[in-house]
Amino acid sequence: MPVIEVENVRKYYGEMRGVENLSFSVEKGEIYGFLGPNGAGKTTTVKILVKIIKDYDGTVRIFKKDLRRWDKDYYGKIGVSFEFPALYSKLTALENLEFFASFYKRHLDPFEVLKMVGLETEADRLVAEFSKGMTKKLDLARALLPDPEILFLDEPLEGLDPTSARKIKDLLLEMRENGTTVFLTTHNMYVADELCDRVAFIVEGALRLVDNPSELKVKMGKHIVKVEYVANDDLKTAEFPLENLGENEEFLRILKEHEILRINTEEPTLEDIFLRVTGRRLV
Ligand SMILES: Nc1ncnc2c1ncn2[C@@H]1O[C@H](COP(=O)(O)OP(=O)(O)O)[C@@H](O)[C@H]1O
Ligand SMILES: [Mg+2]
Repeated sequence: MPVIEVENVRKYYGEMRGVENLSFSVEKGEIYGFLGPNGAGKTTTVKILVKIIKDYDGTVRIFKKDLRRWDKDYYGKIGVSFEFPALYSKLTALENLEFFASFYKRHLDPFEVLKMVGLETEADRLVAEFSKGMTKKLDLARALLPDPEILFLDEPLEGLDPTSARKIKDLLLEMRENGTTVFLTTHNMYVADELCDRVAFIVEGALRLVDNPSELKVKMGKHIVKVEYVANDDLKTAEFPLENLGENEEFLRILKEHEILRINTEEPTLEDIFLRVTGRRLV
């Protein structure tokens, strides 16, 4: 069941193109990612989806209801975190969450939410003392307060150290298991590759392709099998097409007659595919 449906959405900032003819839908419980370089229109899209930008053309339906007809109740159902968190630096982490929680009719326990993002030991520290990564995690905690059905995350892993990034990725994967839908943006192919059930390539305000990352790599892969083996005390490599490999006599002969060191299929990265499809690099 689609929870986000976007049809022909277009937003210009005066003469400047934000997004153009965007159409896509996101299914309940999936992690859906917008992957694209700076200026592609990712943040604009998130702002439209969370009703910060209202003057757009086209239609957005969330939970089958026109976004223009959603009132404040909408913010009890979604969680939103942008690239640059807006938190109170003179309050502690826990005080921030308690403050934001007071806006909701129903919300999770602020301390529990701090635990979810791994900040429980920092509860009583001032946000002014927080690193960029910690601030980012706290902002995600804030987004989780209403126990949202959909999480909108603009560049959620940007600026996080590897350990924190791992923690947040695991949290998002766990939330997906529990049925939460995640819409995220990134310009990092590893994030898209590892987290997203479907990734949409966005360039110059428009979507170019939507697919599952692993399927994409299979479809767009070179379909070549590379064999490394030892012959006459020498290291050799040979390449064969994946198609009808079992009937390839040269391949079979090598398997029979030589010591095999490694066999692998050549797989492109998501960034390779992005470049091939859009003609643009990610960074
Ligand atoms: N407030 C704004 N005023 C004018 N142009 C803007 C504004 N916000 C974004 N844009 C332009 O819209 C395009 C898309 O920007 P954005 O959605 O921020 O891209 P991304 O998040 O993918 O980097 C860019 O060309 C950007 O310069
Ligand atoms: Mg952006």
